[in-house]
Amino acid sequence: MEFKHISILANECMDALQPQRGGIYVDCTAGGGGHSFEIARRLPENGRLICLDRDDAALAACEKRLAPFGDRVTLVKSNFSELQSVLQKLEIEAIDGIMWDLGVSSYQLDEKSRGFSYTAEAPLDMRMDTTCGATAADIVNRYSEAELIRILRDYGEEKFAPRVAHAIVCAREEKPLTTTTELAELVYQSIPAAARRKESQHPARRTFQAIRIEVNGELAAIAPSVETAIQYLAPGGRAAVITFHSLEDRIVKQTFASLLGGCTCPPGFPVCVCGNAPKIRLLNKKPILPSEEEIEYNPRSHSAKLRCAEKL
Ligand SMILES: C[S@@+](CC[C@H](N)C(=O)[O-])C[C@H]1O[C@@H](n2cnc3c(N)ncnc32)[C@H](O)[C@@H]1O
Ligand SMILES: [Zn+2]
Repeated sequence: MEFKHISILANECMDALQPQRGGIYVDCTAGGGGHSFEIARRLPENGRLICLDRDDAALAACEKRLAPFGDRVTLVKSNFSELQSVLQKLEIEAIDGIMWDLGVSSYQLDEKSRGFSYTAEAPLDMRMDTTCGATAADIVNRYSEAELIRILRDYGEEKFAPRVAHAIVCAREEKPLTTTTELAELVYQSIPAAARRKESQHPARRTFQAIRIEVNGELAAIAPSVETAIQYLAPGGRAAVITFHSLEDRIVKQTFASLLGGCTCPPGFPVCVCGNAPKIRLLNKKPILPSEEEIEYNPRSHSAKLRCAEKL
């Protein structure tokens, strides 16, 4: 299948990152290489771009897309939680710009066999890196009812988490759940009809998001990688993060807030003893949202938020 993914908030990201200044840039979520291409084509001759992704199919597409830029681009198969070791292996001591475009790509959602979508029958997989780790099937068939309730509630914001988890546990006693459509139907049946009627989208959407986040450990990787990135950014270097739901956005907002913080000494201390200096400044107080035109052209951008910071 062709790698189709429309890059979101691409101009806004480039305005923040300013790759034309040159130096070393990192795209932590290269995907099909859409944002990477925009960075690479702006980089001066001596610029360098490091592209990370943990999905082999994404890296293959990215390699093709970025071939015109030759050895100015380096592709690395890695989870961005390993950012520090990636930079160390490449003997990079400082970077000038870095970005994340979190979550799954349209390609991953649309490629049926990956099991991310509730609309097409496929094995319950949902791994971004298909070479390791637990699949969605492992989670729905092995987690306790209490663990299922927790992930559905915390990662899916599913109001009916206990009902859905109970339905999963009952169904798997008969036979293990193996396909996306089986799970989607089960979720559908476990949501009260009155609540279902009020929904504009399939009620399995929240369960699928929750399981996907759990399968890929999506939330845990964000804050540590942003903190590492800020350490590595040269003064004046920029970080840009695109999020797609409130759970991701809250983590980015809080991580930036913790790096903004200066002195934490109690009020009234005559001199600062904590020595905490602010590490970043925010480029925008409020997150940047896609324009009406972008949402119309690419409905998947509707929930996107871009937060940008500059290293002091
Ligand atoms: C929204 S897509 C990026 C699309 C890309 N910006 C473009 O314009 O083509 C997110 C990508 O990040 C990858 N990804 C998500 N979490 C990751 C992680 N923790 N480490 C490495 N890659 C990750 C996914 O495999 C996916 O390819
Ligand atoms: Zn202090």
